[in-house]
Amino acid sequence: MSLRWRLNLLIAGLNLGFLLVLAWLLVNNHRESIREEIEAAHRVTVQMLGTAAQTSSVFGPPDTVMVAFLQSVGRVRANEIRLIGTDGRLLFGSPPSEYKAGRTAPAWFAELMRPTLDATVIALPGARVEVVPDPSRAILDAWDRMVLIVLVGIGFVALLHTALLYALRHLLQPTEADARRLVATTRELAQNREVTRLIHAGVEDERKRLARELHDELGQSVTAIRLVAATIERGGALPVSQGAARIDAIAASMYDSVHRIVRELRPAALEQQDLRAALLDMAREWQLHHPAIEFEMHLEGDLADLGEEPTLAVFRSVQEALTNVAKHAAARQVALAVVRGDAGLDVAISDDGRAGAASLGGSGRGLGGMRERIMALGGRLEAGELPDGGFRVAIHVPMPEGAP
Ligand SMILES: Nc1ncnc2c1ncn2[C@@H]1O[C@H](COP(=O)(O)OP(=O)(O)O)[C@@H](O)[C@H]1O
Ligand SMILES: [Mg+2]
Repeated sequence: MSLRWRLNLLIAGLNLGFLLVLAWLLVNNHRESIREEIEAAHRVTVQMLGTAAQTSSVFGPPDTVMVAFLQSVGRVRANEIRLIGTDGRLLFGSPPSEYKAGRTAPAWFAELMRPTLDATVIALPGARVEVVPDPSRAILDAWDRMVLIVLVGIGFVALLHTALLYALRHLLQPTEADARRLVATTRELAQNREVTRLIHAGVEDERKRLARELHDELGQSVTAIRLVAATIERGGALPVSQGAARIDAIAASMYDSVHRIVRELRPAALEQQDLRAALLDMAREWQLHHPAIEFEMHLEGDLADLGEEPTLAVFRSVQEALTNVAKHAAARQVALAVVRGDAGLDVAISDDGRAGAASLGGSGRGLGGMRERIMALGGRLEAGELPDGGFRVAIHVPMPEGAP
């Protein structure tokens, strides 16, 4: 059950309880006052009729005088008076009350409220007067009052309930700020998922690249060694010493390859967190592979001990940017500038190639991954075409105060 419904039920239950207690108090209170009122009226009536009965014989035959007296009195409040002759004939009966004539309280209510009071019989010569307490008018009054109070009570409770529910709905409803936060969180979550996807895809890409490189660089060499070995084994044309020399040459080239791959995976300079040395190594290697592209490098400020994360992030970003230049730009020149200033570290890689309009702005894994990595350090990365052709990646990484 929803929280709103539970609160609804709770409020309704409390209100019902309140109404029941109110009704119970009213019934008790009214029953008591009806009993007191009827008792008093009965006592007064009996007193009055007793005196009348005693004095009636002075004025003539008591029954006739009494009839005349009772007729003059008419209806007495809250009492039914009957004069009955000795032969059982009804000589006088109270006229019906004109107060709220024709109306009565519901039977169950009358039964609930009716006090147990005995009738009184006054004897006189030739007749008897029966005085029967009649609480019907008082009960009807109580009923009318109670109906009014209960109706007002129900109205009040309904109003209270509505007001409470209204207030609760407003309290429970998410505010605009909540909604905005929710939207922001959802967006962040989606971005995080995208980043995770990019990371997994990047890892997969890297594995593929490694597998290809290992196959290309080492697979062929191993096959060549096996061929030389098989030739020697068969005692063929190749003298042992020549075979050994060839195997040695192939192994040396294998060693170079392994060394290059390892260096590329994790340059030794990075272990010492020396960004300058790592960048110089990488630039040398890159130029070896791309001799046609003019490489210009500008390193400024202390680039040692930037911390492991910034060093790695900047190094990998430059690596990816240079790979992109080789892959997408068809450039003649590329410039790398890394400047350590007071505000932090600024890196720019720009080329004069043909920045295609296609898929710019970090939609690819490379630029996307770089941006995430830099942003995780509180920095920012901008990448895009230059106005006069070429492509530029600019990175800023803030350095915490007190850093070397
Ligand atoms: N130096 C550059 N010159 C021209 N285009 C580039 C350059 N660097 C990146 N791009 C463009 O940006 C896109 C996104 O690059 P990136 O995120 O590294 O993904 P990928 O290299 O896998 O395509 C590239 O596909 C390319 O179109
Ligand atoms: Mg790339």
